[in-house]
Amino acid sequence: MPSLGDATRGRILFGGDYNPEQWPEETWAEDMRLMEDAGVTSVTVGVFSWARLEPRPGVRDFGWLDRLMDLLHAHGVGAVLATPTASPPPWMGARHPGTLPRDEDGRTLWWGSRQQFCASSPVYRAYAAAVTEDLAARYAGHPALTMWHVNNEYCTHCWCDETARHFRRWLTARYGTVDALNEAWGTAFWAQRYDGWDEVIPPRRAPYLRNPAHLLDFRRFTSDALLECFRAERDIVARHTPHIPVTTNFMPFWQGQDAWAWAAEEDVVSVDVYPDPQDPLGGQYNALIADMTRSQAGGGPWMVMEQAAGAVNWRPVNRPKPPGLNRLLSLQAVARGADAVCYFQWRQSRQGAEKFHSAMLPHAGEHARGFREVRRIGAELALLGPEVAGTRVAADVAVLHDWHAWWGAEQEGRPSREVAYPEVVRAWHRALWEAGHTTAFAHPEHDLSGYRMVVAPQLYLLTDAAVENLVAYAEGGGTLVCGFWTGVADGDDRVRPGGMDGRLRALLGIGTLHEWWPLAPGGTVACDGFTGTLWSEELEAGDARVVAAYRDGDLAGLPAVLRRGRAWYVSTLPDPEGLRALLGRAAAEAGARPVLDGLPAGVEAVRRGGLLFVLNHGREPVEVAVPGAYRDVLAQAPVVDGVLALERYEVAVLREAGAGRDGAEGDGRHGDRPGRDGRSPRDGRADVAGAER
Ligand code: GLA
Repeated sequence: MPSLGDATRGRILFGGDYNPEQWPEETWAEDMRLMEDAGVTSVTVGVFSWARLEPRPGVRDFGWLDRLMDLLHAHGVGAVLATPTASPPPWMGARHPGTLPRDEDGRTLWWGSRQQFCASSPVYRAYAAAVTEDLAARYAGHPALTMWHVNNEYCTHCWCDETARHFRRWLTARYGTVDALNEAWGTAFWAQRYDGWDEVIPPRRAPYLRNPAHLLDFRRFTSDALLECFRAERDIVARHTPHIPVTTNFMPFWQGQDAWAWAAEEDVVSVDVYPDPQDPLGGQYNALIADMTRSQAGGGPWMVMEQAAGAVNWRPVNRPKPPGLNRLLSLQAVARGADAVCYFQWRQSRQGAEKFHSAMLPHAGEHARGFREVRRIGAELALLGPEVAGTRVAADVAVLHDWHAWWGAEQEGRPSREVAYPEVVRAWHRALWEAGHTTAFAHPEHDLSGYRMVVAPQLYLLTDAAVENLVAYAEGGGTLVCGFWTGVADGDDRVRPGGMDGRLRALLGIGTLHEWWPLAPGGTVACDGFTGTLWSEELEAGDARVVAAYRDGDLAGLPAVLRRGRAWYVSTLPDPEGLRALLGRAAAEAGARPVLDGLPAGVEAVRRGGLLFVLNHGREPVEVAVPGAYRDVLAQAPVVDGVLALERYEVAVLREAGAGRDGAEGDGRHGDRPGRDGRSPRDGRADVAGAER
């Protein structure tokens, strides 16, 4: 199976989406000159070129792309060639209205933007397959081709009649009979019983709350329907070029796609990530997306397919990245395992809906401040490539995340609409990030034995297999910390007897879970040592020890945090400092160590490939103690007296003095995965997560 390494060949790819069809061909020559200047090694072409490649049904215009591919090759720039199927040409909707998606009110989404296709439409699929076939046949042997990029950010949803038929086929495969579907969906409630398959429709607009199991299955189906589209195109390109890796770019931590399932179908896992430059925790968000994507890639290298060099154009107010932030976030991605740092897009458009979105080469041209920073990043990545490309990142703490749990948790009639699953996950990841731990993400059914500590911020829905996996992990000596509203429902969204799975309650030492007590909007509850937010629970401890109790409100005196041995339950969302202290304590007991002790606030440290990356996300200069003798490979200077001075947004990449380029201490390259066998020098738990997927 081809991998990212086949495209990188020991380098870190650097580049971005390139849309030369928006420009006269004279501009292409300037693009090549400036790409070379900036150290660009890879561009993604053809993402939105369908109307250019197929101006009318069945007609092909490849001439411009032939010239472009040749030009790229002549300048040593690799092509990540996209199938153009994310944006069908207007003729398709005009001739075949059935290819257009419909929303849950039955309204058509028309052409004039992009992504106006129904994943279930056989006509769309046939045209997509045909253009993909011809593209793959034409460029299979082209020397510029390094990777296939299928479609773009698969994200359409559709509620049309064709989708209804497809949904029924999906449900038939899942349940076999309508009776089984009635049972799984609990249709005895509100007279929802289906008497035949023809009555089952996508969950369209309805008078009141809809059946949550129906909604959950529709989310599962939609993810699967889009995945079928991906697979169909992947199989076509792979047939022509079995040696060329295939990817599709994920939206980051996005609800519409079960990215665990998708990642397993890709050769390369790639993501588009756009932290808000205004967000003081944008660096933590970038770290979270990196950890999640790396884990989807099985712990190995992954790809930033898109980020912004400056401002985006889709927030209410779009501020550019201040000087240094683009570089900081780019090097952070590399520190956390990325072997490709790419952007949307190379040259800023002058027309169209994204002309105010930044690019590597902005309207101001090659003398722009942003382009200077891009050039610097290109040069530094060229330097780091031979040191880190192909290496892995060690993580001994895992955060559990599952799309199905998210989908279940965010149903219409839930206890609190104040609780947003991604925010809860982000709060827990933040606590670990601030405590200096490098984290991985894992699915609750993955092998967790390689981690010293596993946290489940909120897994509302857990299958039996997942529950058994968590129990086995904790009983095998792992430290498990569960957040509120975990283990509530089974895989069909049926509430477990007692309101929480009995096996989990036994593990955590919970006697009775009397009630969930979500907090009023903005409300807090005092607890021993911290302030709780969002949620509280009326719990009775069984054989657990109470670590912290509620101190005010209706639950004053009742347990807030419980533990039974190494299994912890946190029944509220502690404030950031409180959660950091709690998880820090659990991690310390589990033997999980921060990368560096005593990091100043806003400073991140990560080890990769024998190098220590130290990143200042703060807006003020800091001094960081780095015990040992180190040399900064970017600044090409030694660290004096073990103290590293970092300006705002500054990054140091340190190599231990005396360590050769191949890393006397072991560089963690593929194959060098201590922990895979589950043994560590200290207590038998793995040091490096080899079990991320
Ligand atoms: C996404 C898309 C790109 C572009 C950017 C803008 O990531 O894939 O085509 O629209 O957003 O931020």
